Amino acid sequence: MVSDLRGRDFISDLDFSVEEIETVLDVAWDLKKKRALREPTPYLRDKALAMLFFFSSTRTRSAFEAAAVHLGAHPAFIEDRTTQISHGDTEREMGAILGRIYDGIAIRHCDWGIGNRYINLVAEASPAPVMNMQCDLYHPFQILADLMTIMEKKGRNLRRKKMVVSWAYAKSYQKPISIPNSMVLQMPRFGMDLVLAHPPEFKLRQDFVDQAAEFARKNGSAFDVTDDMEEAFKDADIIYPKSWGALETTADAEEGKRIIDQYKHWIVDDRKMALAKEDAIYMHPLPADRNIEVTDSVIDGPQSVVFDEAENKLYIASAVMALTMA
Ligand code: CP
Repeated sequence: MVSDLRGRDFISDLDFSVEEIETVLDVAWDLKKKRALREPTPYLRDKALAMLFFFSSTRTRSAFEAAAVHLGAHPAFIEDRTTQISHGDTEREMGAILGRIYDGIAIRHCDWGIGNRYINLVAEASPAPVMNMQCDLYHPFQILADLMTIMEKKGRNLRRKKMVVSWAYAKSYQKPISIPNSMVLQMPRFGMDLVLAHPPEFKLRQDFVDQAAEFARKNGSAFDVTDDMEEAFKDADIIYPKSWGALETTADAEEGKRIIDQYKHWIVDDRKMALAKEDAIYMHPLPADRNIEVTDSVIDGPQSVVFDEAENKLYIASAVMALTMA
């Protein structure tokens, strides 16, 4: 167990080593247990957290806000439109100023080609730790909440468990690609056999895919990429299908929509779930396009753990904040 993460940023999935993530998970379960016992956890009393949003959120905002309160800190919800950013506050000024006033800064900025760069520039200037609540490249807190959920359902030793991260059809909008990116970077470090399934146009960054293959090789696990959703689902322990934009193929919204609409059959239904193991779990970070991306029968069915994922983000956010902002 690592005992000192004070002052550390958590922006990319790989900012924390496997041992450091094991520490985050240990602390998250401890905080979850204490909350179940109604024990107070005032590890950040009299501290303050800036939560800066450039993009909407239900779960992540709620998790960070409640986490700060449970730890005794004050969460400040700040939307970019309510700041002076559009009138000239630069990334470095935001980092230097918010980092002096607050004890931690959490940011969501998903704009393609902009978000990750913005968060890193803030972090460079901030004396306080910076947390990534989702950018165009990564969603590290989501992936740790998912990892925590998988371990609760399948045991802490995930070696040789088969996990499928699959693209799925959705028509609401070109969803960020950060979750599959973070999935392929993080999950192979924990020994799972990972299958990445997507139509060709929904490829991920090649360096991320190469990195995933290298982690799998080092861990003696498997990492495969396929364009066959049904083949991928066969005998899986964990099914994680969600939509993302064809952003590595085109940043043009209309062209992206035209590509997405070719793959309406990439929906998760009972027939596809039956290809996986009988005790397979269905995961989705939400929000989902119901009966387009996944049928009600699956997302509301007995194999679905989507609400556990959402709840566990509270404990992962609490753990990282308690460890880095103390
Ligand atoms: N999964 C997720 O990040 O949800 P929100 O966009 O509601 O925060």
